[in-house]
Amino acid sequence: MTRHLSSLQFMNTFSTKLDKALNNLSLAQYPPDAIRTMRKFTSTEVAALLGVTEAYIRQVSLKGQGPEPETTATGKRLYSVEQVLELRMHLAEKARKKWINPRRVDGEDCQIIAITNFKGGSSKTATTIHLGHWLALRGYRVLAVDMDPQASLTSLQGALPGFDYREGDTLYSAIRFDDPVPTEKIVHKTHIIGFDVICAGLELTEFETAVTLEMRKSGGTGFLLRVSQALEQIVDRYDIVLLD
Ligand SMILES: Nc1ncnc2c1ncn2[C@@H]1O[C@H](COP(=O)(O)OP(=O)(O)OP(=O)(O)O)[C@@H](O)[C@H]1O
Ligand SMILES: [Mg+2]
Repeated sequence: MTRHLSSLQFMNTFSTKLDKALNNLSLAQYPPDAIRTMRKFTSTEVAALLGVTEAYIRQVSLKGQGPEPETTATGKRLYSVEQVLELRMHLAEKARKKWINPRRVDGEDCQIIAITNFKGGSSKTATTIHLGHWLALRGYRVLAVDMDPQASLTSLQGALPGFDYREGDTLYSAIRFDDPVPTEKIVHKTHIIGFDVICAGLELTEFETAVTLEMRKSGGTGFLLRVSQALEQIVDRYDIVLLD
């Protein structure tokens, strides 16, 4: 008995220490006040993103049209990610380059892409995030939905599952049966304009139990249908929705 208690005590002390160490590590890696920022883009990069020549970008800037980029001591022009989008829209409207704006027009549907593979650890999340960033930098309005309770996509965006969004600010809040919140409330902007995220958390595992109870009670709907109902509320704001 004594031996049993002492090993329990040892386990308790050990788990408290481990918990503390993990918390400290998280705080050091992701301080609560840390803000993710996107680096600036050179005119060569902007030209490649927009599909025009660098000379054309320089010409537009010299004429004082479009956004005013930062100029370095050596005369290099640097554009923020917001300015790249502003320049894209400016050229689409003012320079008769409609093709430069890839956003869908009335009558075109939002494209929903699910990144799936039965195999675990096969780059689904990595693909979702890279594809999302790539599309957003090319002018599409992208929403990435983290549907995995492990919340890898959420963490890659710099948020700690169960730490930053412990107030229930995740997909679960919009799909739960009791008092679901409007989906727009759980959409998070990121450091890349045009790339928004709906986060996940461990509470998504609760949904499996909740859905069985609800189905027995009133024929409630399953996970995927709840998610699609939640997404329907906001889908008209996006060109592409990525599901991880
Ligand atoms: N192209 C790549 N090059 C190097 N490492 C990669 C690449 N793609 C993914 N990884 C790494 O492989 C691991 C698994 O990737 P990822 O989390 O994207 O897989 P997943 O399919 O989403 O996994 P899960 O099934 O757990 O959701 C991660 O540590 C990720 O950083
Ligand atoms: Mg994953």
